[in-house]
Amino acid sequence: MYQQQLQQQFQKLFGVSATNTYFAPGRTNLIGEHIDYNGGLVLPCAITFGTWLLVAPNNDGEFRFRSLNFKDKADLKRKERYDKIGSYWYNYPLGIINQFLKDGHDLKGLDMLFFGDLPIGSGLSSSASIEIVTAFAINKLFKANYQKIDLALMGKAVENNFMGVSSGIMDQFAVTFGENGKALLLNCNTLDYQAVDCQLGEHMLAIINTNKHRKLSDSKYNERVSECQFALSALQSVLDIQNLCDIDSASLKLHEHLINDVTVFKRAKHVVEENERVKQAAVELAAHNLSAFGMLMYASHDSLRDLYDVSGIELDAIVDYCKTNSDVAGARMTGAGFGGCAIALVKKSAFNDFTAGVNKYYSDKIGYAPTVYSSHIGNGVMEI
Ligand code: GLA
Repeated sequence: MYQQQLQQQFQKLFGVSATNTYFAPGRTNLIGEHIDYNGGLVLPCAITFGTWLLVAPNNDGEFRFRSLNFKDKADLKRKERYDKIGSYWYNYPLGIINQFLKDGHDLKGLDMLFFGDLPIGSGLSSSASIEIVTAFAINKLFKANYQKIDLALMGKAVENNFMGVSSGIMDQFAVTFGENGKALLLNCNTLDYQAVDCQLGEHMLAIINTNKHRKLSDSKYNERVSECQFALSALQSVLDIQNLCDIDSASLKLHEHLINDVTVFKRAKHVVEENERVKQAAVELAAHNLSAFGMLMYASHDSLRDLYDVSGIELDAIVDYCKTNSDVAGARMTGAGFGGCAIALVKKSAFNDFTAGVNKYYSDKIGYAPTVYSSHIGNGVMEI
């Protein structure tokens, strides 16, 4: 959609034409939050906002990073290994390049221009989007022959080892495998998935950005991951399990005494119950039972607020408003939380009223406005 303008910008910046253009979407997660790193089920979908990457190989042996979203740029001589450089945006593509080099691929110099229309740091996976668009492009350009699943795992490895965030596989998976009109019911333990029809009938998916920016590396994300590991270790003293999501809520209740920290128990309770909600949500979605699906979204949000403690006044304000609006079937925070975005299932015919209503409620309560987007479910990473 922006291709012509992007090509002109590429010309201006590098003095040559881009040879290839790639796109990777962002994602929203309908339900199944903070359970991907616990081997649980999640239900994300790719959206039509995302990251474009235009490239041209160069003969100078340099990796040149430019972005239309950030003014920082970098020209890096080809080395065998890279480390993270400060907290610049180009660490994401650099981490991917580093991974290809570590795997022994002989990459040549590359001029790269990135542009994203995803709000950054808003829980819509701008980071997975930039990782995967880079991995997909390099895989094609330098004929590295990785399968798509390898690219998703590479993105996760960069997030974990290069960026220092102990995230799960959900974001990179959704960005890679997303399908138009479908949600992905992904088992994060086995990586088996099913693309399920996401027919919302008279409803549509609205994304409401709190405009409260957060960076996962500065958030309590890694703390939550460790709390889950504590809970798992405690349960493993008696149970033969690999992941928290290997048990159901009845079994957790039976073994509650093994976890002697109240906070850690609350985290485990969220994880196990959220996994059950996803199973139920997939059934309701298949039966086009949007009101039951919406109730599960509200229950998911309440659990993330009360048990997992990753919401906040901004996300709660949006969901509180949704509960008062009869045109909304359900709503919840999406992604890691701590700010970022909420999603809501809103009657199509009432979208404008909803936008005005949430705007007023949120602005009165929080002191600044949210941004409301109408969202479509799109495809995963591709060459354009
Ligand atoms: C972030 C992480 C994901 C997942 C979500 C929470 O988006 O990158 O792996 O853990 O938070 O569900």
